[in-house]
Amino acid sequence: MSNPTRRLHEKVALITGAASGIGEETARLFVANGAFVVIADINDELGQKVVTSIGVDRVNFHHCDVRDEKQVEETVSYTIEKHGHLDILVSNAGIVETPSSILELDMSNFDNVISTNVRGVLATIKHAGRAMVKQKIRGSIVCTGSTAALISFNPSLTAYTSSKHAVLGLVRSSCEELGMYGIRVNCVSPHGLATPLACRCLNMEVSEVEEKLSSMVSLKGVVLKASHIAEAVMFLASDESVYISGQNLIVDGGFTAVKPLM
Ligand SMILES: NC(=O)c1ccc[n+]([C@@H]2O[C@H](COP(=O)([O-])OP(=O)(O)OC[C@H]3O[C@@H](n4cnc5c(N)ncnc54)[C@H](O)[C@@H]3O)[C@@H](O)[C@H]2O)c1
Repeated sequence: MSNPTRRLHEKVALITGAASGIGEETARLFVANGAFVVIADINDELGQKVVTSIGVDRVNFHHCDVRDEKQVEETVSYTIEKHGHLDILVSNAGIVETPSSILELDMSNFDNVISTNVRGVLATIKHAGRAMVKQKIRGSIVCTGSTAALISFNPSLTAYTSSKHAVLGLVRSSCEELGMYGIRVNCVSPHGLATPLACRCLNMEVSEVEEKLSSMVSLKGVVLKASHIAEAVMFLASDESVYISGQNLIVDGGFTAVKPLM
């Protein structure tokens, strides 16, 4: 019998980029809510540490570079072998380039960001979608976008901004076809928060990043943490959002809604 306090009771979830930051918090929240989780990441050491700290019985690590379609396919197969089926994909792995003027942009950096943030997300939707369709699972797919999916907030992040706009396109495009099989596809778009990705990009400590990013939003008195994003992902992953598909849930304290005159 399902336990109403455990919102993902016995669900099987695959989360990419879950060795750190938003993905890691999502894995913790999912397990606390009764899910079995496979963490897929390129960082084996961090991934194993997360598994050990969560507790090995409900969570596993599998090496996966989302840029390599074969590894994505193998990771989905591993999840099915381990748990029998797949209910939830959180396609979260992402990178940001070293900020650069478009006039100086190194095209290989652009290719790497697109390959991870767009091709990687597409490969995960393709293979998780196939597994769900094959087993007639009415699954939920949640991709991590960004406020950079909607606006350009930093002209030095051409690749990142382009890639996140494309993620939203992938969500809207795939929700149509996968909807025929009862599979929902949505996006969660966070404002900046002090994960290792953001600290590296801004070259700042956690407290500096939090102060800078909090000062940009209209909502005061709360600092955005990875756990807040994980809550939004869990809502879209769970049956609480059973009729929601093709949407972009923006978690930005009003950042993209407001453009003050002064
Ligand atoms: N932190 C922010 O300010 C912010 C804001 C909006 C959106 N996001 C998005 O959130 C997602 C997670 O980022 P985060 O902030 O938690 O960063 P993070 O650096 O803490 O975590 C990202 C994880 O992805 C993994 N990863 C990187 N490349 C990979 C690959 N090719 N294959 C598999 N795994 C790979 C990393 O090893 C890492 O564990 C990203 O898609 C990012 O664009 C972050």
